[in-house]
Amino acid sequence: MTKKTPAKIPAHIAIIMDGNGRWAKAHGLPRLEGHRAGTENLRQIIKGCAEIGVQHLTLYAFSTENWSRPKTEVDGLLTILETYLDKEVDELCAEGVRLHHIGRLEAMPESVRKKVEHSIEVTCSNTKLILHLAWNYGGRDEIVHAIQKMIRDGIPSKDVTEELVDRYLFTAGTPDPDLIIRTSGEMRVSNFLIWQGAYAEWYVTPTLWPDFTKEELFKAIEIYDQRDRRFGNISSSNNEN
Ligand code: IPE
Ligand code: IPE
Ligand code: MG
Repeated sequence: MTKKTPAKIPAHIAIIMDGNGRWAKAHGLPRLEGHRAGTENLRQIIKGCAEIGVQHLTLYAFSTENWSRPKTEVDGLLTILETYLDKEVDELCAEGVRLHHIGRLEAMPESVRKKVEHSIEVTCSNTKLILHLAWNYGGRDEIVHAIQKMIRDGIPSKDVTEELVDRYLFTAGTPDPDLIIRTSGEMRVSNFLIWQGAYAEWYVTPTLWPDFTKEELFKAIEIYDQRDRRFGNISSSNNEN
């Protein structure tokens, strides 16, 4: 980011980290190498967010639909997650990052679940940036989960408001994403934050996730800063009539 233009920093950035497979193919490598390269890329992006004062970063790492991929890829992704947590928890603490998980943790293999829970515990007093890891996350599944819980809690229908639904989502207590970034050029939501992203600004780039740099992140924030977020109202600079 250029020093002369202090951009309005989004409180919450969410990223659909897509394109690892295409990156691997372009480099003549197996798909898992693309996932490894994508995971390596996290460090600079997390650092960049912490540096400029982003408070929440949500990373879409594995969707509820990604279980349909070949078993070798799914197993490889689980191993990559475990290795990442083993290797990076100290670094997360050094950066003041607190880890949070969204999605169905209970449906993940026990060793991975324990590692995620341990990492959440170890980082729980960090306050600079909250990293929400969406692993085994699906927006529709999240809404189903919320409705089931409301029914179990005996919530009467007249009490079901948007605020109440917010409190039953995995993201309870987290502000809605201001900016959603999708790498690799796909123009779709792919079941990501479908409730919370109702008024998010989007930045879609052809860059494949392993090649997405901190500089491009800052560029996305500058573009976000120029957007006129109207939330259904009329433009704030054009409301005199
Ligand atoms: C994103 O990269 C990571 C996951 C969905 C797990 P992809 O694996 O979807 O990469 P492409 O879309 O095949 O290039
Ligand atoms: C979305 O990417 C999920 C993640 C990045 C984790 P996909 O590659 O799974 O999405 P589709 O299948 O192209 O919509
Ligand atoms: Mg993809």
